[in-house]
Amino acid sequence: MRKNIVAGNWKMNNDLAQTEALLLGLKKHAIPENVSVMVAPAFTNLYQAFETVRETPIEVIAQNMHQAKNGAFTGEVSAPMLKSVGVNTVIIGHSERRAYFHETNALLAEKVTAAIENDMQVIFCFGEELSDRKQGEHFEVVKAQLQQGLFHIDENQFKNIVLAYEPVWAIGTGETASPEQAQEIHNYVRKLVATTYSDAVSENVSILYGGSVKPANAKEIFANADVDGGLIGGAALKAEDFMAIVNAF
Ligand code: PGA
Repeated sequence: MRKNIVAGNWKMNNDLAQTEALLLGLKKHAIPENVSVMVAPAFTNLYQAFETVRETPIEVIAQNMHQAKNGAFTGEVSAPMLKSVGVNTVIIGHSERRAYFHETNALLAEKVTAAIENDMQVIFCFGEELSDRKQGEHFEVVKAQLQQGLFHIDENQFKNIVLAYEPVWAIGTGETASPEQAQEIHNYVRKLVATTYSDAVSENVSILYGGSVKPANAKEIFANADVDGGLIGGAALKAEDFMAIVNAF
């Protein structure tokens, strides 16, 4: 059975004190048993965050990592470093990494391999831009991102993958994909996973939706058969909003 997941991507927000305050806010809420809850603070705050939520079901995850184990890569953080502070899950391929840091599908493939070699779970993000959708190319774009960035791993390794469909035009814009648009791509991706791997893999992989999810729209998005949760940006920065989304299943 695949899991319901709500993951908060805090991006470059919250210093140490703010991280602590937000986590304490989240800890005041009971977490329903049918949802895995994750938060992704900045690298500098991961260790403290891990300590703060230690006794709770909240999982602390990373927003990115470098593909090498160690070495002369100034400013970068590796999978073993993340693991050493208790992080077992990493977001790879977020559209902001692709756009602002020029991360290509080939590079993302290397990152996925490195994460898996280090026994980490990967939340693999993909999604089309508005121009792709306007030209009716969204299915092809999504397929290419998955084929080039992710589908090199084998069926057994796919157990460590969570997928996150994030149409670029819906991220931080207040514009959400309609529940039908989300379901259409999620169903397409699930079928693609089935033909690439197997029905079992496709039935078991959680596919999250991301892009302006908020308390007011989470329920109708999560209600779709192939939507197994959300990757939440802006609304993850307020404890009440994030927990309302967690409770939207
Ligand atoms: P948003 O961001 O919820 O602020 O649109 C989602 C994301 O980037 O993961």
